[in-house]
Amino acid sequence: MSTDPVRAYRPADRDQVVALWQTCDLTRPWNDPDGDIGRAQVTSTSVLLVHADGDRVNGTLMAGYDGHRGWMYYLASDPASRGGGIARALVHRAEDFLRDQGCPKAELMVRSSNDAALGFYDRLGYEAQDVVVRGKWLNTN
Ligand SMILES: CC(C)(COP(=O)(O)OP(=O)(O)OC[C@H]1O[C@@H](n2cnc3c(N)ncnc32)[C@H](O)[C@@H]1OP(=O)(O)O)[C@@H](O)C(=O)NCCC(=O)NCCS
Repeated sequence: MSTDPVRAYRPADRDQVVALWQTCDLTRPWNDPDGDIGRAQVTSTSVLLVHADGDRVNGTLMAGYDGHRGWMYYLASDPASRGGGIARALVHRAEDFLRDQGCPKAELMVRSSNDAALGFYDRLGYEAQDVVVRGKWLNTN
């Protein structure tokens, strides 16, 4: 019997998840990983998915529905296991999660210099959008 490698994050995954994000250069000084993990657990409209081989976490993806669009963050695939469909499985599961909530469209942000992620998302049918992203921190005075 085969076990589904994609499941929801568990607290015991924490160190492996953060290490994978660091390996994949997804951490930034202004994003506290524990804060990001915690906030994704608070609402039923967001999820942090992991791809695991037994106890070993080798992929992650965060997804959330804001009532209009579904957004994906923290896509990571262990460098030693790339090309084996880990990221595809995670994105497909996130799409199922969003679709189940009635979300009509999934979107994501990729740095324009990240050719690997752009190539990957191209392959999965994610089209370039004619938008500019702007942001404002809400947790400062
Ligand atoms: C992008 C990334 C997640 C891909 O992970 P992966 O597990 O190797 O991807 P998969 O094996 O599921 O690939 C799925 C498809 O995308 C294609 N693909 C994967 N990487 C690609 C790349 N660099 N360029 C073009 N296509 C790519 C695969 O060939 C495959 O297509 P196929 O099955 O039709 O041949 C991985 O390179 C990664 O973790 N990068 C660092 C973190 C990062 O930048 N995350 C994105 C932040 S926005």
